[in-house]
Amino acid sequence: MRRGSILQLVGIGLVAGGVAAAVALFVPWLPEPASREAGRIHFVFWFATVICIAIFALVASVIVYSVLRFRAAPDEEDDGPPIHGHTGLEIVWTAVPTALVTAIAIVSGIVLAKDDAAGSNPLRVNVTAQQFAWTFSYPGTKVANVGTLRLPVGRSVVLHLEARDVLHSFWVPEFSQKQDAVPGHPTTVHITPTRVGTYPVICTELCGLGHAYMRTSVTVMQPAAFRRWLAGGGGQAQGGQGQGAQGGGQAGNATFESQGCGSCHTLKAAGATGKVGPDLDNLAADARKAGKPLQAYVHESIVDPNAYVVPGYQQGVMPTTYGTGIPKADLDALVQYLVTSARKGS
Ligand code: CUA
Repeated sequence: MRRGSILQLVGIGLVAGGVAAAVALFVPWLPEPASREAGRIHFVFWFATVICIAIFALVASVIVYSVLRFRAAPDEEDDGPPIHGHTGLEIVWTAVPTALVTAIAIVSGIVLAKDDAAGSNPLRVNVTAQQFAWTFSYPGTKVANVGTLRLPVGRSVVLHLEARDVLHSFWVPEFSQKQDAVPGHPTTVHITPTRVGTYPVICTELCGLGHAYMRTSVTVMQPAAFRRWLAGGGGQAQGGQGQGAQGGGQAGNATFESQGCGSCHTLKAAGATGKVGPDLDNLAADARKAGKPLQAYVHESIVDPNAYVVPGYQQGVMPTTYGTGIPKADLDALVQYLVTSARKGS
C-alpha cells in the first residue's frame, strides 16, 4: 500500500471518529448521575461507547476510502480481480471483536455485582404500583402509602416492588436503573443516592391508558432532615394536605393521596392536576348530568366506575378494584371529602 493511501485512510478515520465523538460528547444523552449505581452504569456506557467510536472510525475509513478509490469508471464493464480472502485479516477481525466483547461483558458483570451489593443494613422501602400511581411505605415506621418517595443521601436503600394489577416498571433516569413491578412476584432494586435533589419517578412499562401519567417524584434529602421527616410520620410529604384538612377531613385527603387519585384526576383542594379522568372539581355538574344525587354519584363512580362515564371520557379506563381495595372507613372518608369539596366549589 502506498504511503499516500495510508494517510488518506487515517485521515478519513480521524474525521469519522471525531464526528462520532462529538455526537457522543456534546449531545446530553444521559442525565447527571444521582446514585453510586448510576455512576458505575455510566462508566460501562462510556467504556462501550469509546470502543464503538473506534470501530466506527475504522469501518467508516475503509468504506469511504474504497468507494472513492475503487469506484468503477463510467465505461468500465469487466469483472473485478478474483480475491481468495486473507487468513491474517480474518484472524484479526475475529480475535479483536472477541476480546472487546469479552471486556465489555467482564466490566458489566463487575458493575452488576457491585450495584446489587446492598451491604448489611440497607433502608427498606416498599413500593406499590397500581394503575396509575406509585405509593411508598417505610416498614417499622408510621410512614405508609405516601405518594412521593423520600430517600436519605449516602445510604444504601433497597426498594421492594409490588404491583396490584398489571406490569409496571420503576425508573428514575438519574438513578439509571429500571426494575419491573410484577403482580404476585416481588422484585427489588438497590440504590445509593449521592446527590440531594428532586428527580422524576416514571412508569416505564406500558400499563394502560394512564401509563404516561403514572409519574411522581423522589426527593433525596440530608440524613438528618430525612430522619426528622420519618419521625414526624411523613407529614408535609404531600402537597396540599393542609388545604384538604377541612370538610371530609384529613382521612379523606390521605386516602386520595394514598390511592393515587391525583395521578389521573384534577382536584384543586388536593393540589392534583391529573388529566386522564374527569376533573373532580366538576363533580357537582357531572352528578346533575348523570341525574344522580351528588353523594351517591361519587360513591358509585369509585366502586363501579363504568356505571356512568362522563361524556368525553372512555369506558373501562378507571380500575374497578377500588370498591374492594379501599377499607370501608377510608372509602367513606374519601367520598365525604370529594362531596364537601364539590359543594364548596359549586
Ligand atoms: Cu404503570 Cu405504565
